[in-house]
Amino acid sequence: MTDRPTALVTGASRGIGFAIATRLAEAGYDLIMCARRAETMAEAERRLSATGARVHAVQADLAVEEDVRRLIGVCQEKCDQLDVLVLGAGIGTGGPIEEVPLRHFDKLFAVNVRAPYTLVQALLPLLRKGAAANPRQGAKIIALASITGVYPGPELAAYGASKAALGALCRSLNAEVSASGVSATVISPGFVDTDMTQWVRDEVDPAGMITTADIAELAMTVTRLSVNAVVPEMVVTRPGGQLHRA
Ligand SMILES: NC(=O)c1ccc[n+]([C@@H]2O[C@H](COP(=O)([O-])OP(=O)(O)OC[C@H]3O[C@@H](n4cnc5c(N)ncnc54)[C@H](OP(=O)(O)O)[C@@H]3O)[C@@H](O)[C@H]2O)c1
Repeated sequence: MTDRPTALVTGASRGIGFAIATRLAEAGYDLIMCARRAETMAEAERRLSATGARVHAVQADLAVEEDVRRLIGVCQEKCDQLDVLVLGAGIGTGGPIEEVPLRHFDKLFAVNVRAPYTLVQALLPLLRKGAAANPRQGAKIIALASITGVYPGPELAAYGASKAALGALCRSLNAEVSASGVSATVISPGFVDTDMTQWVRDEVDPAGMITTADIAELAMTVTRLSVNAVVPEMVVTRPGGQLHRA
């Protein structure tokens, strides 16, 4: 791409992914981004490009192996190195354990766990190059998990299990590669005010939810840390007596 640092942000067309992509673009990163819907992504690409960043948008459904491979191919073709990988794309399905169909469980794991694993596996060589080029900060992987992967929540067993798996993946990754300058941080928030939390707005006022700006701020802090500081996990909860709830 250019001599600016490069980040891949999955799920960058809306919500938390878009907030992080915006902050990265403003901080001087070029971006590769992906999402499923072309129209929303084109609008996000337009807004991100307006910061002066070079932005390459890839329409990809991360539930589909071929699309994940195509996204990897674009990164390998466009980038000599990768400095930041934000695993933002994720889906949520709720419901009692007895009722959530296994096909929903499989889709959750495909998007929330299998795709991140595939991306990390294939892009580690580019991340290692990013770390070698910037020995002070190294390269960072930032994964959007969920507080439901850390603490229990009713009717969120499948979603929580997928996010717990994502957390375990990143923790093991740190044990394996962080000494070489590539480290992973899992951000595990409660309810954030995005499209994903539309379903709960009757019960939880969006004005009291965590903001996308809060999560983007944490992500940017991680990008600025030295290689000597590995932050495996950040749990972000809403205020009140019932901490550790979504
Ligand atoms: N909002 C919360 O309360 C909350 C709390 C904890 C954790 N999280 C996690 O944070 C991440 C972002 O959440 P959000 O609230 O920002 O969600 P969101 O507003 O629904 O945005 C999700 C983003 O991911 C993309 N995406 C969804 N499924 C995809 C797929 N199969 N392939 C490629 N892209 C896909 C979406 O674009 P398209 O729809 O066009 O594909 C969109 O850009 C997710 O991993 C979520 O699980 C959210």
